Amino acid sequence: LVSADSYAEKDEKYCLYGIGMPKGVLPPVFVEGYGAIIKDINGKEYLDMIGQTSGVNSIGHAHPKVIAAVKKQLDASLVHSFTSNVNLPRTELAEKLAKIAPGDMRDNCRTLFSSGGSEANEVALKFSMIAKKKHDIISLYRAYHGDTLALMSLIGQSYWRNQPLFPMPGFPGFHQIPDAYCYRCYFGKSYPDCDFECARILEHQIMYGSTNVAAFIFEPIQGNGGVITPPSKEYFKIIREICEKHNVLRIADEVQTGTGKTGRYWASDYFDIRPDIVTTAKGMGSGFPISATMIKSDVVPEDLPDKHWHVFTYGGSPLVCAAASAVVDVVTQEKLTDRARELGARIRKHLNDMARNQRMIGDIRGAGVFLGVELVKDTRTKEPAIAEAEEAIVKTREKGLLLGISGKPGYGNVLEIRAPLVTTDEQADRAIEILDSVLRDQA
Ligand SMILES: Cc1ncc(COP(=O)(O)O)c(C=O)c1O
Repeated sequence: LVSADSYAEKDEKYCLYGIGMPKGVLPPVFVEGYGAIIKDINGKEYLDMIGQTSGVNSIGHAHPKVIAAVKKQLDASLVHSFTSNVNLPRTELAEKLAKIAPGDMRDNCRTLFSSGGSEANEVALKFSMIAKKKHDIISLYRAYHGDTLALMSLIGQSYWRNQPLFPMPGFPGFHQIPDAYCYRCYFGKSYPDCDFECARILEHQIMYGSTNVAAFIFEPIQGNGGVITPPSKEYFKIIREICEKHNVLRIADEVQTGTGKTGRYWASDYFDIRPDIVTTAKGMGSGFPISATMIKSDVVPEDLPDKHWHVFTYGGSPLVCAAASAVVDVVTQEKLTDRARELGARIRKHLNDMARNQRMIGDIRGAGVFLGVELVKDTRTKEPAIAEAEEAIVKTREKGLLLGISGKPGYGNVLEIRAPLVTTDEQADRAIEILDSVLRDQA
């Protein structure tokens, strides 16, 4: 009989981790998943309220319609065809995405497919530089857009202090501005009297802090940075006006926020952002590795080199496009964005009730089922409860609940929920019961 521990030990011997459990903690060995449940090798079931990180399993594990679509494509015996050829699932998926694209990209966008969120963002940046013939890029302090060498420079510079690559220089021309972190406003102000100083500073950065700005890239709600959620649509209206005035492209990184989690298919529609470019991944394939850079047709320059300006070998491979196409169908036909709103309201109500009796809950934020709970040692001082958040993750896992935790460049004290859109009310209630009991024990 093979034990879970022996598997984990063998894994550690032969796999090299880029991210993992703290030394000495053996990770669970997962073997099976369906809906909001994932099962380990010992038969223990977990409520997966983070979708195996940041809501990747957006419509749950092994959704039958996604599995059926992939099997159908396998039966058609076309697993891969190179990106410069046409394959049917890719064309169909690109058309479906255009039909649901946010803002004025609707029926007015062209998509370049790739395999992960970092790839999609690299494409977005490269495209912006080519299209605008400029090379500066502005992002937000607590951004996370991916882990390639260039994308790491989009993360706030304090991040470098904790990085193994320190003291690596940042990518030339990449700059950051403060984000809309109202709970800890950088300007010491409060919404709504703040007049959105955090949005208005973008104009100063474009005019005085950079030379040739091609694009401003942002997550509509910052995921890894701590579920930082702008307080209203007005924030993005100001951003839009500044970008339009200075001819700067707006790239909405919807790698986490896409695929219905906020209660709209795109957070860009939730906030009325009207972006020029949307990148998406994670929940897009509900577990299958696919990502996309959706570009408003109007901003594609006529002189874009048609022979070669960008290539990823697996971009738009038929198997993953078939999976992602099924995800679009399930979310739209089964009205799962409505479900995200309903389920999110239910979870939020429970969290608000909990907050009334818990001294550690400092802030609850997000939209739909894309939620964050910021833990603090004391609600008056707002001192981040980092060790407590880490402990809560371990304790909830022991009790059969998987949650996420914000990483760098956040403090690491925000518990993350990305409930799969197929989560039942009972599962959601149970998840909150577990979280409540763990936080009560810690208090
Ligand atoms: C907002 C955002 N963008 C991009 C990425 C990078 O995606 P990937 O890890 O698939 O390369 C992530 C991953 O966490 C993300 O949260």
